[in-house]
Amino acid sequence: MVLGILKEDSFDNRVSIIPDTAAALLKMGFKEILLEAGAGELAGYRDGSYTAQGVQVVSGKDVLSKSDIVAKINPLTEAQAGQLKVGQMLIGQYNPLTNQDVVQPLLAGKVTAFSLDMLPRSTRAQAMDVLSSMATVSGYKAVLLAASEFNGFFPMFMTAAGTIKPAKVLILGAGVAGLQAIATAKRLGAVVEAFDVRAAAKEEVLSLGAKFVDVEGAAESAAAGGYAIEQSEEFKQRQAEAVHKHASMADVIICTAQIPGRKAPILLRKATVDAMKPGSVIIDLAASSGGNCEYCENGKTSVVNGVKIIGNSYLPASVPRDASAMFSKNILNFMKILAPKGEMVLNFEDDILEGSCIAHQGQVISPRLKALLTPA
Ligand code: NAI
Repeated sequence: MVLGILKEDSFDNRVSIIPDTAAALLKMGFKEILLEAGAGELAGYRDGSYTAQGVQVVSGKDVLSKSDIVAKINPLTEAQAGQLKVGQMLIGQYNPLTNQDVVQPLLAGKVTAFSLDMLPRSTRAQAMDVLSSMATVSGYKAVLLAASEFNGFFPMFMTAAGTIKPAKVLILGAGVAGLQAIATAKRLGAVVEAFDVRAAAKEEVLSLGAKFVDVEGAAESAAAGGYAIEQSEEFKQRQAEAVHKHASMADVIICTAQIPGRKAPILLRKATVDAMKPGSVIIDLAASSGGNCEYCENGKTSVVNGVKIIGNSYLPASVPRDASAMFSKNILNFMKILAPKGEMVLNFEDDILEGSCIAHQGQVISPRLKALLTPA
């Protein structure tokens, strides 16, 4: 198969496949790899580092017309999608559960598309799980961003000019991003607390040396595959009270709580933010699905009563070299199943291929997406 690598859109500095991965794919049996000129530049991978691995540098138009499978992290633009042929394949992260508009053109164009955010959360799928790898980047970068925006120090300082208390950091949602944020904030010397509705998260939070904010009575479901589910109104009220108490003492809050395919839960109400100290910072990583903070606006920074609220779900794009390396490794591991010898083996009995295939010959294959798009 011929694999093509497209340049990402202007808001994203990453590239889907880095030179080392391209070399590994050629070794696996891919016939040719084509790179849109300059696609890796902003992530720190020059065209020359691809050609040194046997990749051909061509125009974006040639990538689209000559590749059997096209890699781009973000959905194709309308103009790019218009150049695809029936049966051509795509691989990326299209978030179809929250961005359903992306699916229809793929079905209409009879394109086969794999969206790596749709993989099952199984041990076998872990090595290709882009949600985990990008959440790792986001959790880490969110804390660094907060540390530079906050009006104080993170660690405790005992100096001749007096003692400075460590920053208090509250993490809402202790999944992959939240745990990475805890670890990063601890390394910087902050006092960290975290909250989650999944009981399993408590042990992980404690093992990182943070305190767990307990709110009794959260609902969980084994059918949710390890994900959080929607909570009752009564629980939400108790949760809001607990979060209010801890948030009003916090200097920094990192919001990471999400429920797949749904609007993010509101955990920081306006009254809670109003009770925070001026100079505090909130980073809302759930911004693209509505945000955990009621004041949050996706892609915007606002200041309310002296509290800075940064709504940013695209932090992986701000660590482009390593985020690209991780994404690329996820693609390589996925290709070992989709095209083990460089030729496609389309076996939808494999839950990895079934779960992540959002379009094939005009049909949705992923059961989760199918359930969402089929009216009850
Ligand atoms: P996510 O990005 O979907 O959500 C982030 C966190 O927010 C989760 O811990 C969730 O429980 C929490 N949350 C949701 N609603 C909340 C609320 N109302 N209040 C407080 N917290 C709330 O989660 P992520 O990071 O994708 O992980 C979800 C699960 O998947 C975890 O159990 C994780 O261990 C598991 N996982 C499994 C993988 C695998 O086996 N391949 C890979 C990565 C994660």
